[in-house]
Amino acid sequence: ARLVVLVSGSGTNLQALIDAVADPAYGARIVAVGADRADIAGLERAEAAGIPTFVHRIADHADRAAWDVALTASVAAHEPDLVVTAGFMKILGPEFLGAFAGRTVNTHPALLPAFPGAHGVPDALAYGVKVTGCTVHLVDAGVDTGPIIAQGVVEVLDADHADGGEALHERIKTVERTLLVEVVGRMAREGHRIEDRKVWIPA
Ligand code: GRF
Repeated sequence: ARLVVLVSGSGTNLQALIDAVADPAYGARIVAVGADRADIAGLERAEAAGIPTFVHRIADHADRAAWDVALTASVAAHEPDLVVTAGFMKILGPEFLGAFAGRTVNTHPALLPAFPGAHGVPDALAYGVKVTGCTVHLVDAGVDTGPIIAQGVVEVLDADHADGGEALHERIKTVERTLLVEVVGRMAREGHRIEDRKVWIPA
C-alpha cells in the first residue's frame, strides 16, 4: 500500500512508520511526507530517509479553502491508498475529506471521545482522570470525532500533575507509536471496511 504521511512537528510517529516500512513484510511504503510548516524535525526525518516532501503553509495561500485545494492536490499526486496524519495540527478541509475521508488515519493522545482537540493531554490531567491513552481513528469533518480503529491505555501517575503533562505525553507517545504502526500495517495488508461508524480490519 502507498502511504502519504502529514506532519507538523517532531515526527516521532512518522519515524516509527519509516522504521516499520523498512521491512518489506510490513506491506506499505511511504511515498511522500507533507507538512503545514517548514523547518520541522518531521520533514528532516523524511529527507534523511529519502522520502519526497511537500509543504503547504496556510499563510502562503489566499485563504483556507485554497490551502485545502492545494494540499489535496499534492497528496493526490502521490496516489496514496492511505493517508496518515501523525501530529498534523491542522483541521482538514472539505476538499481533502472529499478525496480521502474513509482512508485518512489520525492518532490522538487521549481516549476519545474524551479530550479531543489540541490539548488532549493537559485536558485529561486537569479533569483528573486516572487512566488515559491514545486513539487511532479515521478522520471526519469534526475535530477528533471520526470512527475509532484502536486505542491504547496509559495510567496517570500522581507525579504527572507536577510537570503539566510532559512526562505523561511521552509515555502516551510510546504506546501511540506502537499502536499506529500496528494499525496502519494491518490496514495496508488487509484493508478495512466501515460499517455503522465502526471500522473493521479483517483478522
Ligand atoms: C502525538 O502525540 C499526536 O497524537 C499529537 O501530537 C503528537 C505528535 O508527535 N497530536 P510527533 O510529531 O509524532 O512526535
